[in-house]
This record gives sequence, C-alpha cells and structure tokens, in this order.
Amino acid sequence: MNNKIKKAYDIYRAYGLRGLIKRTASASKKRPSLPVGTSLVWQKKFYEFREEVLKTRHCHKYFDLVKCLAGHSLFFYKVIPLFSIPLLLRPTNIVELGSAFTSYLEKCNDPWGRYDKLEEGLISTRVLLTACRFLNKYGIKASLTSIDIRDDKKKFEDTERHLQELDLLQYWKPFYGTDSLDWLKRNKDLIHLAYVDSSHTYKQVKAELEALAPQMIQNGVIIIDDGFTINDPSDVSWRVNEDEGGRSKGGEFGAVLDFLKEHPEWRNTWSPEGMVYLCRNASVMKFLSE
Ligand SMILES: C[S@@+](CC[C@H](N)C(=O)[O-])C[C@H]1O[C@@H](n2cnc3c(N)ncnc32)[C@H](O)[C@@H]1O
Repeated sequence: MNNKIKKAYDIYRAYGLRGLIKRTASASKKRPSLPVGTSLVWQKKFYEFREEVLKTRHCHKYFDLVKCLAGHSLFFYKVIPLFSIPLLLRPTNIVELGSAFTSYLEKCNDPWGRYDKLEEGLISTRVLLTACRFLNKYGIKASLTSIDIRDDKKKFEDTERHLQELDLLQYWKPFYGTDSLDWLKRNKDLIHLAYVDSSHTYKQVKAELEALAPQMIQNGVIIIDDGFTINDPSDVSWRVNEDEGGRSKGGEFGAVLDFLKEHPEWRNTWSPEGMVYLCRNASVMKFLSE
C-alpha cells in the first residue's frame, strides 16, 4: 500500500466515509496565491506599521506590566484582583497599608519587569497605580495613598524613580516612615477602597480593620492580603513577629474572623490564596462573590 492510500485508509477507519470525503476535498483545495511581489509589499508594510505601534504602545505597555506582574511566581494571585476591582468600583481614594520598596535598579534593571523573588515589594502599589492611571484617563480622579512604616531614604528614592519611569508617580501619595495606625488616627478623608498588607499579626490586623471600618464609604471595599496567616514568623526588622497572645487567637486569620463576628454588617468572601474581600453593600458583594 503506498503512503497516500494508507493515509486515506487511516482516515476512513477513524472518521468513516463522510469524513474521508470531507478531508480529501478540503486537502485538495488550493490556496489562491498572491500576485508575485504582493506578499513582500504587505510584509514590509506590516513591519513598518508595527514599528510605529511599538513606539506608541500607550495602554498596551500597562497591560504588559500587569501581565508581567501576574506572572510572579509567588505574588501572582493578587495582581488581577487589585487591577480589576478598582476598574469596576471606580474609587477615587484608594489606601494601601503596607507597600514596601522596589527591587528596581538594585536587583532588576527594567522598570517594566519584575524581580521574581520573595523580597520583591511594590507589587500591589504598581498594580493599584496602573488602575489609577486607567481611571484618570477615563476622567475619574483616582489616587493611591500608601502607608509604610519603613524609612529608608535610598530605597524610597529608588521607589519614586521606579514609579516615575512608569509615569505613575503623579497618582501616588506616599507616607513612608509612618505607622498605619497613626496614619488612620489622623486621616479625615473617606476611603473608597482599602488594601491591608502590613504586619500579619492578630493585633495589627484587628486594629487596622477597626480603624478602617468607620472611614470607609458605605459601598467601600476592604481587601486583606494573607488572610490565612495564623503564626507570622516574619523575622525581619520591619515586621513584628506574632506573639503568644496573637497565636492563641489565630493570628491574622483569627483577627479577620473576630472582626467579622463583631461587625456582621461586613459581608465577606475569601479567595483560596487568602485574599479576603469585605464590603457592606450587597450588590457590590454580589459581583465579588458570585
Ligand atoms: C508584605 S509587605 C507589603 C508588600 C506589598 N503590599 C506588595 O504587594 O508588594 C509589608 C509591608 O508593611 C510594612 N509594615 C509593617 N508594619 C507596618 C505598620 N505598623 N505600619 C505601616 N506599615 C507597616 C512593612 O514595612 C512592609 O514593607
């Protein structure tokens, strides 16, 4: 049996007679060829066009940034929610407790890239600021206030430079060297969207939630990171370790559950990675949880 007949026989066995006729007919259809030279003209046009597109990538650069951060081997889970929720809620005042520093320049030379390690910070900040950029382009004056207790001049300068390179600095109100609870005590503005990611201890998270709750607008959303942390042994100078009392109450996890027990008006939904979404408004919660 020559090859052609064998192939036809295999198709007949696999797909039957109708299948054989269909496949043989479509294989025999010839693609109309382009007139000589036409294909090269279109190839050239395409390359020139694409060069122009690459020079002015506008929003696509930011889509690529979000895509890049969403590829982080450890922190991928927070990127899409932190990008999409502000776009859906259209908040103007976004507050982030715990922002950290960039790895840009020190460990990664591309401001649009990522340093794929545990030490990488500023992930939530970059993502929330990208959402602010889109909202502003759409006419919504969104900004992000980031509070972080650490006060390292050099690292902060790198962080500002990084956000400048990304053209996101204009939407940022940083309070570094500031304790989140001190900032919340002084804050007078209503918050539309809050993100909680400072120390993952019972005491800190419970106090932050208690302070945040009355400062949120009625439809406001609080996103808590690492909600399943029970015993945070951070072992870094800028984050306190969980203590015996906090451990016995279930650490950050226990703090969120206690807050919810004491404030049943806050509806909640949890992601498998431990991102917790709190909101008092039923219809907002509907799109977060259904
Ligand atoms: C887990 S990191 C934040 C990571 C960041 N959200 C991200 O997505 O890359 C926690 C940060 O919270 C800060 N922090 C710890 N305790 C704090 C406090 N009491 N007040 C403000 N910031 C605090 C730390 O300095 C650290 O930079």
